[in-house]
Amino acid sequence: MLNDQHIAEPSEDERARYFRSQFYVPDGQIYMDGNSLGLLCRPAEDALNRVVADWRTLGVQGWTEANPQWFGLAEQLGALQAELIGASASEVIVTNSTTINLIQAVGTLFDPSLDCNKILCDAGAFPSDLMAIKSVLRSKGLSPEEHLKLVSPDSNGYLDEEKIINAITDDIALVLLPSVVYTTGQLLDMGKLSAAARAKGAVIGLDLSHSIGALQHSLDAWGVDFAVWCGYKYLNGGPGAAGGIYINQKHFEAIPALTGWFGADKSRQFDFSDDIPLASNAGRFQVGTPNILSMAPLVGSLSLVSEAGIPWIRSRSLALTDYLIALFELQLEPLGFELVTPREPDYRGGHVSLKHPEAMRICQVLRTKGIIPDYRPNNIVRLAPVALYNSFEDCTITVKTLAQIVRDREFETVPVSRGVVT
Ligand SMILES: Cc1ncc(COP(=O)(O)O)c(C=O)c1O
Repeated sequence: MLNDQHIAEPSEDERARYFRSQFYVPDGQIYMDGNSLGLLCRPAEDALNRVVADWRTLGVQGWTEANPQWFGLAEQLGALQAELIGASASEVIVTNSTTINLIQAVGTLFDPSLDCNKILCDAGAFPSDLMAIKSVLRSKGLSPEEHLKLVSPDSNGYLDEEKIINAITDDIALVLLPSVVYTTGQLLDMGKLSAAARAKGAVIGLDLSHSIGALQHSLDAWGVDFAVWCGYKYLNGGPGAAGGIYINQKHFEAIPALTGWFGADKSRQFDFSDDIPLASNAGRFQVGTPNILSMAPLVGSLSLVSEAGIPWIRSRSLALTDYLIALFELQLEPLGFELVTPREPDYRGGHVSLKHPEAMRICQVLRTKGIIPDYRPNNIVRLAPVALYNSFEDCTITVKTLAQIVRDREFETVPVSRGVVT
């Protein structure tokens, strides 16, 4: 089909239609917000219902007799997610939230000395990441003002990789970077940056929240020390789904900053001792009882991700974002929108960010028309055409509607408000 500005809409293949049919796309909506909260799919719903049924029939025996067994669920999900990031099963555990996992990893692996006692982050990092880093610094008696070094984006809003590398000076003990910048959608060269940090002797950690389930990673090959991520974005685990943590096997002996009985060697956990041996893998970075109900949907949703395979997901995601960018050039750029996501596929994650001075009100009008974007400061409309459930037609309609809202100045009817930006 040709849209009214004469860009051919790529045709949908059967595989794409099959995966889309597995998701509940809210009635009458075009959902472009899967990088904030992924949609519910049938296998995730079934997996959640199975846990509820096991709880109903087994009670406490569900810990050992449910299928899947709750006692080993964090490890089982860890093994499934390890495949998505180029890690071995023993290096990944699904537990807690991204922020807690970050405090855990940084609290454990940041080992300041007299001369080397700073942490390097990007200035535009997700605020909760910076809050987590600051809390670890404070807990070690170091002031964030002095010990947190921030790299600012360039005038286009992009992080310059050479600038990051040059900022890894001898006083940097740990570097934390995002895989994909949550505002602009810029994808960093994680292999290159990890190698640069290691060459300087710094610990390198990554926040994979906006890339896991959307593109390839090779954490072991890149020599990354640790990584954390959300389970509710491209992994479609549901609101507040458990996050994930990767700990390179070279750190399996480290004593976690936060310890608790679920970090124990599983065969010894019920010794009921506070001097229990810890698991000799990433499992030791767990703390308390796993949130089984916040993990169960991942059993189903990950089965769909692995059925599709990351290479297929990434190539479809790039086709969708390519198409969205082509539409932007024709229909939105002349209306004052600016593309703040890199055009080069190797530097682009799964979402496209468009800047407009009225972005917040435009997003509000878009929602009233059944199209769900999200808004991020400053003045960014984020659109995530997700490989597993969005279509090229979703992109066509979204762009056409955005153009209409701006051309007809429909946003002027909306009072300025802060909105909810989850
Ligand atoms: C890049 C990034 N890091 C961290 C977080 C925080 O995750 P959580 O609230 O699950 O700890 C988010 C949440 O959206 C995020 O987008």
